[in-house]
Parts: sequence; C-alpha cells; structure tokens
Amino acid sequence: MLKTFLLPKKAARLIVLQRIEIAGPLLRKLRKIFGRYIFSAFITKFFLNSNQVGKKYYVRMNEEFSSISKHLTNEDKNYLSIGSGMGGLEVIINHNFSNNNFYFIEKNYISKKIRYGWTGMMQSEAYNDLTTLKEFLNMNHLNDDKINITDYDKDKFPTLKFDVITSLFSLDYHYDFHLYEEYLKKICSPETKIIFDTIRADYFKKIFKNVIVLKTDMDTTHKSKRILCSQFYE
Ligand SMILES: C[S@@+](CC[C@H](N)C(=O)[O-])C[C@H]1O[C@@H](n2cnc3c(N)ncnc32)[C@H](O)[C@@H]1O
Repeated sequence: MLKTFLLPKKAARLIVLQRIEIAGPLLRKLRKIFGRYIFSAFITKFFLNSNQVGKKYYVRMNEEFSSISKHLTNEDKNYLSIGSGMGGLEVIINHNFSNNNFYFIEKNYISKKIRYGWTGMMQSEAYNDLTTLKEFLNMNHLNDDKINITDYDKDKFPTLKFDVITSLFSLDYHYDFHLYEEYLKKICSPETKIIFDTIRADYFKKIFKNVIVLKTDMDTTHKSKRILCSQFYE
C-alpha cells in the first residue's frame, strides 16, 4: 500500500495552491508577509519540498476519503469530480474500490491571485494544469483507460449518468452551485450521490430530497459542512 503520492514536476506547487494547509508554517508565514500574488507567482515555484508535499497530500486525501468512504460501494462505477485539484482523492478511491471510471472537470490555468472562500459571486480562480493532473493520476496507478479529463473552458461536459459526484472545497465553496445546477440535473439518476462542501447546508434541503451532513469543518473561517445530497426536487 502506498504511503505517499508520487508527484510529477509541477504538481507540488499546484497542490499547495489548491490546499494551503499543506504548506508548512514557514511558507504560510511567507504568504502572510509577501501577500498572495508573490506567494503564488514566486515562492511556491522555488521553496517547496516535493517529497514532503507528496506525503502531506497523501495524508490529507486519506482523511478526506475517510469522511466519505462509508457512503461508497463497489456498485458505484462512474465517478465525476468537479474541481478535483490534483486528483489524490480519486487515486485513493481507486485503490479501495474496483472497476471504476473517473471523470474530471477542471480548469486549465493558474490564477495570479488566490482567493479562498466563497463570496456569493461566481469567481474565476483556477489552480490546475490538466497535463500535470493526467501525469499525477498515471504515476499513481490511475491509468488512461479509467480516466476522462474535461477542460471546463473548452470541452463538452460528459453526459452519462454518474453514481458519485464529488467536489471538495470547490462547488459552492469557490463558485455558486447554480453554475452547475442544470448540468447536474441532467447527469443525476435518483441514486446519484453528490458530495460537496458548503457554508449553507440548510439551503440544499430546498434543492434536494435527501441531505446528510458528513462533517463540519471547524478549521475553515466559514465553518463549512460537507454534505451528501441526492434526488433533486422537481
Ligand atoms: C480549493 S481547490 C480544491 C481542490 C480539490 N478538490 C481538493 O480538495 O484538494 C478548488 C479547485 O477548483 C477548481 N475550479 C475552479 N473553478 C472551477 C470550475 N468552474 N469548475 C471546475 N473546477 C473549478 C480549481 O482549479 C481548483 O483546483
């Protein structure tokens, strides 16, 4: 069993931009002193230890997996990850469940400014590189025949019915749920499980027939909740 992730060259920087908790205390201090632009454009380019990032990312993704794993089964075959980041969660799901296909919808650019949190307006921040995402998945034994990567800005979205849709700290955290609402209605069956983080869990009781709170994140400024939803009303 893996104890770390193998990282392609550019991955460490992207992972730290996607998951600031993975930067050590020194880097987080530098981000405070120099601001987010310099942190994103320079510091993350030169001051990262790739092995350390691989290990920490592995630990965090295992923790995230534990928060959802009891709701996943071997019957779940088609997974969609919206704003997957580097896809560490999907690598771990692939190790634990068999015969899955993984679809990803992500952005293929790196914003100059990092703005975590959701302000109620659609934001365009993106921190990914789809070539690096594919390399990372392949290096960690998620092979091409099981993956399908969609560039949010250029490609047609996949149209099959999914068993599980995950979006950790992305949908309704970085950008409004409504950006994807009509699309999600098309790709959900009554059994589809949609898992995402939000600061307005109660609001989703009006949108879905079933809403289960999986965890409350007390570390984030907004105290977000991870929810599992199924069955759209109407
Ligand atoms: C905070 S990161 C979280 C990444 C990953 N889910 C994780 O938990 O490590 C948010 C991700 O959402 C992606 N993103 C931003 N806007 C998006 C959109 N409209 N559709 C899909 N992904 C988006 C960003 O590129 C980034 O990788």
